[in-house]
Amino acid sequence: MHPRRRFRLILSLSRWGALTVLASLVLAGCDTNRPPLNTAPLSKLGVRVIQGDTAAPADSTNDLTPRNLATSTLLGDPLAGLDAADMIRFTQGQEDFEEEDGVDEGLGPIFNESACVTCHNAPVGGTTGRIETRFGRMISGHFDPMANQGGSLMQDHAIGLVQSADGPYTYVAEVVPAEATIRTGRLTTPLFGLGLVDAVPDAQLLALAQWEARITPWTRGVPNMVTEIKTGGVRVGRFGWKAQVPTLHQFAGDAYLNEMGITSPEFPNESDPQGNHDLLKYNPAPGMNDDGTDIQKAADFMTLLGPPPRAARTALTDDGARVFRQIGCANCHVPTLTTGDSPVQAIAHRSFQPYSDFLLHDMGRLGDGIAQGQASGRQMRTAPLWGLSARPAYLHDGRAKTPQEAILQHAGQGAIARDRYQNLDWRSRMSLIAFLRSL
Ligand code: HEC
Ligand code: HEC
Repeated sequence: MHPRRRFRLILSLSRWGALTVLASLVLAGCDTNRPPLNTAPLSKLGVRVIQGDTAAPADSTNDLTPRNLATSTLLGDPLAGLDAADMIRFTQGQEDFEEEDGVDEGLGPIFNESACVTCHNAPVGGTTGRIETRFGRMISGHFDPMANQGGSLMQDHAIGLVQSADGPYTYVAEVVPAEATIRTGRLTTPLFGLGLVDAVPDAQLLALAQWEARITPWTRGVPNMVTEIKTGGVRVGRFGWKAQVPTLHQFAGDAYLNEMGITSPEFPNESDPQGNHDLLKYNPAPGMNDDGTDIQKAADFMTLLGPPPRAARTALTDDGARVFRQIGCANCHVPTLTTGDSPVQAIAHRSFQPYSDFLLHDMGRLGDGIAQGQASGRQMRTAPLWGLSARPAYLHDGRAKTPQEAILQHAGQGAIARDRYQNLDWRSRMSLIAFLRSL
């Protein structure tokens, strides 16, 4: 029997293969002698593997000098290098993203805010720190999103008094039902650079999961395999705190419905107020609110929005980058990913540095208790660390006010790195934090 088990993804990943050994040595040398967690094989998670060489995304370990890096000048700018047609799409997309919708246009009956920008701002596309509420309960070991009582996402606004054929009716905001045993906040995430994340082939994220399972099994991530509504296919989810959505286009439709109450072809059904479908009979704007045009515009804006520009490297931040890797932060907060094909030249086949693997990790008690797609209550997506210094708060519910507080809350698969952080001398801690703030 072979001493090493070898896997290869069905898709061609040969570009990464050449640096496999080097990358393995770098990582293995940094994060050694840790007991592997008891983990199920990827095949059980619906990830198809066949025997062969391990495809190691070696580029992902390169945090300082990636080739062909996608950039932008200022936070909130479009990607550098867009052609004139894409610049127009960006501007028109941004207008849509900033536009407030009214009741006539389909806002509500229940909603959270009347424009994307209300939560995603400072600058446009970022985050104001707005926190929304999710709730649910456990029933014999299974998560119940309490959909028939308006869960799991609560809409905390409503359009109020309406006149209908059945007489006047007043829509009210949803509340957390008394039966809910789980209640959690969800902080608005910034959207900078997400067009690059959208363009990462599923195969690369699946290969990353393979690679982590082999090289750093105690912190291995798993993909959240979810349905892409447009094609009906199963894709690697990557957007949202639980990686619950596979594409920006789908998130745009999802957000139009769930944040604003605007229905569209992929999301045709209005949310039932507090789970009560009958109350929709008073809906002043029934039927399809958007034919897909606004969804596409919002998706265009997000696709073309540039990544957060990185601060200049210094001796301190270089030292911090080394510490970051040494204590195992980079196991999950993977520095560099590469895009695949894209109709946008400024996106196709670029490197970028999100500091995330976009996979789910068992974070123990830091988990938010909500299940979405294949993500259990304890599993969370590795939060991307780029643009960290522009965020008003950290972690899924915004409980951490500083990066250090966020690190100290890591549990489950993040506990080892957290403990190592706590054991660092003050200088190493300082350089690590300086590095994080430079991303
Ligand atoms: C009420 C505040 C609010 C509004 C309005 C809102 N969002 Fe969000 N957005 C959030 C929150 C909170 C999250 C994190 C959601 C989660 O994972 O549960 C989020 C996440 C996202 C993400 C995923 C980003 C990532 O990190 O993966 C995208 C994309 C997005 N929103 C797009 C939009 C678009 C487009 C609109 C307008 C149609 C919109 N949002 C309106 C609060 C808001
Ligand atoms: C096992 C994977 C894993 C490891 C190892 C890990 N993290 Fe995280 N990290 C996560 C996940 C998952 C989240 C999101 C948690 C949440 O809020 O639910 C996160 C969140 C964060 C955040 C907050 C980001 C935000 O936008 O809210 C910071 C900062 C952070 N990690 C830094 C670090 C540092 C520094 C290290 C090394 C000491 C580290 N992490 C190690 C998985 C990991």
